[in-house]
Amino acid sequence: MQSIDELIAAARRAFAAAARPADLENEKARFLGKAGILTERLKSLARLEPQQRREEGARLNVAKEAIERLLNERRAQLAEDAVSAQLAQEAIDVTLPGRSRSRGGLHPVIRTWIRVEEIFRSIGFDVADGPEIETDWYNFTALNSPENHPARSMQDTFYVDAPDAQGQPLVLRTHTSPMQVRYARQHGPALRVIAPGRTYRVDDDATHSPMFHQVEGLWLDEDISFADLKGVYTDFVQRFFESDDLRVRFRPSYFPFTEPSAEIDLMFTSGPRKGQWLEISGAGQVHPAVIRNYGFDPEKTLGFAFGSGLERLTMLRYGVDDLRNFFSGDLRFLRQFQE
Ligand code: PHE
Repeated sequence: MQSIDELIAAARRAFAAAARPADLENEKARFLGKAGILTERLKSLARLEPQQRREEGARLNVAKEAIERLLNERRAQLAEDAVSAQLAQEAIDVTLPGRSRSRGGLHPVIRTWIRVEEIFRSIGFDVADGPEIETDWYNFTALNSPENHPARSMQDTFYVDAPDAQGQPLVLRTHTSPMQVRYARQHGPALRVIAPGRTYRVDDDATHSPMFHQVEGLWLDEDISFADLKGVYTDFVQRFFESDDLRVRFRPSYFPFTEPSAEIDLMFTSGPRKGQWLEISGAGQVHPAVIRNYGFDPEKTLGFAFGSGLERLTMLRYGVDDLRNFFSGDLRFLRQFQE
């Protein structure tokens, strides 16, 4: 039979070998459980003589206490190991470089959009928004370009296959001008509004993108003339470019929805791009037929409209020479516009 010392030593080894709490509890059962080694030996005391029984009983009690103490020590050790392991796993290496959180930014064209809104709001214009999928009627017919009118071919249009719920043919709006009609019908006959937004044409090269942005402007009242257009637009570009060193030119042109019509050109009189006329907008006095389509009497309501390219304004303001930069998603380009 194992001596008491051997028994304690065996328990010590078994407990030390238990790597997980569950293993340790199995070992406990093997020594101290109901059918454990120690329990069996205590039971066997019954067969001994009284004197021997007392002595052996006392030794076994010492052994039992020793084994329980070893068990508790090992339990505490395993618990401590578990905490240390967890701490090690969660350790933060404070010497690592920090993880910076990246911040989104505004696209340069959107910056222009916001700027244009601010400037026009400050002189009393409302800002309106409308559908990019537009009926053929609002996009063309109401703007004095009846079907088969040659002016319709000026804009190569994305037509939508299916008509709308009322059977109206649909297009991706080729300009923001349909917003003149939508807004005037609801808010006229005296109004001042701009309508910035996305527009679409079948066009793709260094200066044209199939999706681009325009801002429409419309001022209607009893006596709004081409002189007001000149004043408002010149003031706008001076504020937009934060410069008086520029000139604005109204060059005769043609649009079916304005009469007279003009292209608005801009020239810087100082700086790297001085001395070069650049086209930024179409404009004109609203055609009487269009005033009628707004629902008003052209004898009583007059006004001007303009439609300017937001990419164009952005390119001039920042000196960007290729429109495709705006849509290629190249962060090296876009980051230059972040504050
Ligand atoms: N809609 C015209 C275009 O896209 C611009 C324009 C707007 C011209 C308003 C005159 C008046 O080219």
